[in-house]
Amino acid sequence: MKEKIEQLIHEVEAFAASGAGELEQFRIKFLGKKGVLQELFADFKNVASDQKKETGKLLNDLKVAVQGRIDSLKEQLGSAEETVSSGLDLTRPVNYMEPGPRHPLSIVRNEIIAIFSRIGYSVMEDREIEDDWHNFTALNFPEEHPARDMQDTFFIEKDPDIALRTHTSSVQIRAMEKSKPPIRTIFPGRVFRNEAISARAHCIFHQVEGLAIDKDISFRDLKQTLLYFAKEMFGEKTQIRLRPSYFPFTEPSGEMDVSCNICGGKGCNICKYTGWVEILGCGMVDPAVLENCNIDSNVYTGFAFGMGIERITMLKYQIKDLRLFFENDLRFLKQFTNTY
Ligand code: PHE
Repeated sequence: MKEKIEQLIHEVEAFAASGAGELEQFRIKFLGKKGVLQELFADFKNVASDQKKETGKLLNDLKVAVQGRIDSLKEQLGSAEETVSSGLDLTRPVNYMEPGPRHPLSIVRNEIIAIFSRIGYSVMEDREIEDDWHNFTALNFPEEHPARDMQDTFFIEKDPDIALRTHTSSVQIRAMEKSKPPIRTIFPGRVFRNEAISARAHCIFHQVEGLAIDKDISFRDLKQTLLYFAKEMFGEKTQIRLRPSYFPFTEPSGEMDVSCNICGGKGCNICKYTGWVEILGCGMVDPAVLENCNIDSNVYTGFAFGMGIERITMLKYQIKDLRLFFENDLRFLKQFTNTY
């Protein structure tokens, strides 16, 4: 009998159930009214008395083993069933989720902000839907200026006084209205112009403009600030040159070229074999603009500049088609290292 019991203990310990039904059969086989244990206990009477102690102990071991096996299998099956019913398999290998890279325009915008932050400029942003005053009139645009023309500006149909801003100079006006000099602020933002989309132009693009107003600010300060910016953005060897230009809100006005960082000034198709690439407009703030914002132009002077982020990015990364920025093609977007 001892051998039989020992064999049964092995059998119990090796038992595995694939479902609740199989486990129940196992329970009935061992613990049921006509089950194996019941039978053995009945036979126990016939065991010789000198064998009783040892056999009794084995019989008890078998009972404990059966109960233990049932309990642990129940637990296993229960948790497996729970996982299946909630549709979750926590053991499944995960799919790799690639971290998204920052958009090249964001990288360059952040870099421009960092460059000007290092020399004490703050950052200000404001609305994209503007009134005529902030986008044009306060900036000294004459009533009949062509930039107000329907061809350039997206007006709101019901109210010709409201338009999508055509430049972030509108935020310069808001800054001057809100705070008193000294002012040193840059204005990043999205702007809108009614232009046909091509490799070089888009109806939506991004600018960073800058404004410095204080006592004794001169054209020299403007030039040094822009030279500092150009060297930080395009490298220590970069040179700048200013050409006279016209903007209603600055006098004198200029356009700035940087030495071509692609050919190093020797001439290539990016700089159209001139060695120079235009990157921004700038000038001394027109006294009429200061007065429009209640800043005394006899006491204060200032300079302003504005650049397109797309243009800087195209130059920096040698991107030949502006439309790539808006297509969200991952093969394009993944190429930019995200240091900013
Ligand atoms: N607002 C001008 C533009 O959008 C850029 C500019 C800003 C020029 C400040 C001069 C001074 O083209």
